[in-house]
Amino acid sequence: MNSSCEESEQNLASRSASLQAFFNLSPDLLCIRSNDGYFQELNSVWKTTLGWTLEELRSYPWLEFVHPDDIAFTLDMERQCYIKVSHTPIQFKNRYRCRDGSYRWLSWRLSTYENGLSYGIAQDVTENSWRGSEAYRTELQEMVKLRDQAIDASSVGITIADARLPDMPLIYVNPAFEVITGYSPAEVLGSNCRFLQGEKTHQPAVTELRAAIKAGENCTVTLLNYRKDGTPFWNELTISPIYDDDNRLTHFVGIQADISARVRAETALRIEKNKSEKLLLNILPQPIAEQLKQSEGSLAQQFDAVTILFADIVGFTPLSTQMPPLELINFLNQIFSAFDQLAQKHGVEKIKTIGDAYMAAGGLPIMQDNHAEAIANMALDMQQAITHFQAQQGESFQIRIGINTGPVVAGVIGIKKFIYDLWGDAVNVASRMESLGVPGKIQVTTATYERLKDKFAFEKRGAIPVKGKGEMTTYWLVGRKSIDSMNS
Ligand SMILES: Cc1cc2nc3c(=O)[nH]c(=O)nc-3n(C[C@H](O)[C@H](O)[C@H](O)COP(=O)(O)O)c2cc1C
Repeated sequence: MNSSCEESEQNLASRSASLQAFFNLSPDLLCIRSNDGYFQELNSVWKTTLGWTLEELRSYPWLEFVHPDDIAFTLDMERQCYIKVSHTPIQFKNRYRCRDGSYRWLSWRLSTYENGLSYGIAQDVTENSWRGSEAYRTELQEMVKLRDQAIDASSVGITIADARLPDMPLIYVNPAFEVITGYSPAEVLGSNCRFLQGEKTHQPAVTELRAAIKAGENCTVTLLNYRKDGTPFWNELTISPIYDDDNRLTHFVGIQADISARVRAETALRIEKNKSEKLLLNILPQPIAEQLKQSEGSLAQQFDAVTILFADIVGFTPLSTQMPPLELINFLNQIFSAFDQLAQKHGVEKIKTIGDAYMAAGGLPIMQDNHAEAIANMALDMQQAITHFQAQQGESFQIRIGINTGPVVAGVIGIKKFIYDLWGDAVNVASRMESLGVPGKIQVTTATYERLKDKFAFEKRGAIPVKGKGEMTTYWLVGRKSIDSMNS
């Protein structure tokens, strides 16, 4: 090969490389087609646009990729590429099938065939073609119509306010808004929606709305609004901002729901719940009520030391023969209510009443160290309280109190008519202290005495026989020690 021939071959190679570089740089779909009906060369935009690999595109006649509806017309255009009357490019649009089965609109400029080759440039104009098409316009109209129908059918109020105008007036309200508020569109368009507010409208909710509007943010509030006829309703209002393509706030859309019925039901439910809560707390200590609400089954807890009190109204049975039953029960109710108040005052748990007896305990359900002291103070106050009732009834009855300190198991058992109760030997002994006591006196065991002897005054009763326990030394609690005597 002579040198001039080598040079021209090198030139040719470098020109072809430059052309290839342009070919791949183009944002358009470029191709070279041969007159056998196949693609010969394609740039990579084909792959990114249609999803096929270039090998796949080259393996089939290009007509296979054309939308069936566009084939006849495409062939017409193709015929023109063979007529070499002018070098003007042939221009048309047709749809090419993507690998995922969808189609894209390509806008073509095709050269005529020369030396068996035709050159093509195509642009993906799917969006433009679709948006400009009659089908798109029809679909759009259908869509808008459907949206209007949905907004009309909505049972919540839908409003639009123009955020670009002073004081953000309403520019649209749907029919439900009229149903909820009683205002027709003609009456409200052009006004700010605050006309629904009134004297009792919750101001923090309005402040929240104002802050959201200022920040261009979403916000949901529940506030009291007033209908055209002046009647109030609870409005669950959500406002949401609408921004344009340049991120400028243009509108707010508001959704109004009349939730008055729900608020009424919730209020009634809350009142009922409070009532039943109060009732529950009347029969159970609060921590136990809480535990019981959360778990089912027995709730029993061991306490190492609590102080138990039994008080019996002695002489009540004869009283019952003198008084009509209703009056008698009313009287008993007054006494026990006074004891209940004392239990509360001393932080003592009332356990139950058994006929004309009253039972209480200190040191549970929350453990506390001063349980014996609290019970002793309660017992002395009970004696004091009973003197008022004695005055009413001419001292025809007295109170006999027994106290013991020891371990118990406390809790709720059963599933019906349950109460918080105590079990254990210490409970039986406390009951014995009462039944083996003397009217008008408070009998305590040594266990209780040992805890109280420094602060309270006692008289030793001595040993008494206690059923099931043998001999037990007991004491009479007679009063509180004065500070002076405690120091001496
Ligand atoms: C789209 C939209 C709907 C609104 N709908 C109600 C409504 O139903 N009831 C209401 O009390 N306030 C509604 N508001 C709030 C008031 O129009 C007003 O923004 C709010 O009272 C706080 O502003 P102000 O302090 O200027 O009154 C709506 C606001 C917007 C933007």
